[in-house]
Amino acid sequence: MDHFLYRDGALHAEDVPVSEIAAAVGTPFYCYSTATLTRHFRLFDEALEGTDHLVCYAMKAASNQAILKTLAALGAGMDVVSGGEYARARAAGVPGDRIVFSGVGKTRDEMRMALSGGIRQFNVESEPELAALSAVAQETGRTAPVTIRVNPDVDARTHAKIATGKAENKFGVPLSRARTVYAEAAALPGIEVVGIDVHIGSQLTDLAPFRQAYEKVAELTGTLRADGHDIRRLDLGGGLGIPYARSNEAPPLPTDYGALIKETLGHLGCEIEIEPGRLVVGNAGVLVTRVIYAKEGEGRDFLIVDAAMNDLIRPAMYEAHHDIVPAREPAPGAAHHPYDIVGPVCETGDTFARARDLPPVAADDLVAFRSAGAYGAVMASEYNTRPLVPEVMVHGDQFAVIRPRPTFDEIINRDTLPPWL
Ligand code: LLP
Repeated sequence: MDHFLYRDGALHAEDVPVSEIAAAVGTPFYCYSTATLTRHFRLFDEALEGTDHLVCYAMKAASNQAILKTLAALGAGMDVVSGGEYARARAAGVPGDRIVFSGVGKTRDEMRMALSGGIRQFNVESEPELAALSAVAQETGRTAPVTIRVNPDVDARTHAKIATGKAENKFGVPLSRARTVYAEAAALPGIEVVGIDVHIGSQLTDLAPFRQAYEKVAELTGTLRADGHDIRRLDLGGGLGIPYARSNEAPPLPTDYGALIKETLGHLGCEIEIEPGRLVVGNAGVLVTRVIYAKEGEGRDFLIVDAAMNDLIRPAMYEAHHDIVPAREPAPGAAHHPYDIVGPVCETGDTFARARDLPPVAADDLVAFRSAGAYGAVMASEYNTRPLVPEVMVHGDQFAVIRPRPTFDEIINRDTLPPWL
């Protein structure tokens, strides 16, 4: 459920017609609903009620300060994967002890930054990383709280580019090496083992792979405890999928996911952390774009819109489906027509949908790509010198620009010339 609905014949974001935002901001733009964001965060929080837990929002999904502040006010922790994300989380007022640091390639500078600024834990992914963290911890005179990310070798049954829990993926330490690595960690100065971390992939639409992974984590917890490690925290990663095609997808709900966590791991008495990104923000955002031309092709019709692959790369990169809806509500029973929906960039990959059945749409009409809140704005670029797509947040009947569209001068003036030119 989200808050992008037709009212009086017009698509609204909460109480604001998206056409009103388009008139004020221009197109394309991302638009987030505070109510949807809040609702989805709470679903996770409530799913883990009764268990000591922290929901660490995976801010790689959408990291605007306004989004982070909205979530932080609800008690969210943050999962960061770079020094930049750490800085963003701190700038949004998130205390260090609510930030977990994930990622397979943390640099020493990033470790230094998080250790001196405050950090809940590092999710360490390899022995060389452990050694580097130990060295940085000693140099800064601090102790680094650590979980080791284990790779449970389960098939997440999702798109290959976003599956992370198979042995051939670059992530984590193989389960078969876990005891050795924990023993090393325990012996290293400046390192304090606090728990186990696992994340098997993104956009999972079935609970079975989570079950497989969490059962392995439960078993490992027992083994490591028997080895003398104080395993008191389990970070279970993110990955719960969302319905991108509303007509035929119904992934498991956060309540089902929470029940699975309690069933597989509840008896261990550990504090539970989860790192959802997509489900928190995905359906809380749309990308609004205007049709530039409707063009008749050979055997197919194109809608050329003013958003492009640089603004929303998911269809080009993951063959992702986004529902596309006109901002003006179609008349009941209006005939549908198949369109290829494409952007202006000179690449065939700049295609959002092929032969998509839409109600009548004409040049100058606004359309919205739904479920674009996660991995949308954050993956945008200025390819073709198309200004970085702006972001807008709605709260009831108010809206605000939370990242403006840069001017051409601002873009050009970011370049600096070498002395010989
Ligand atoms: N934790 C870790 C360690 C992760 O690597 C990720 C996502 C998450 C949490 C959050 O997963 P989520 O709940 O959002 O599924 N750009 C791709 C998705 C990449 C996901 C990367 N890792 C896309 O647009 O589908």
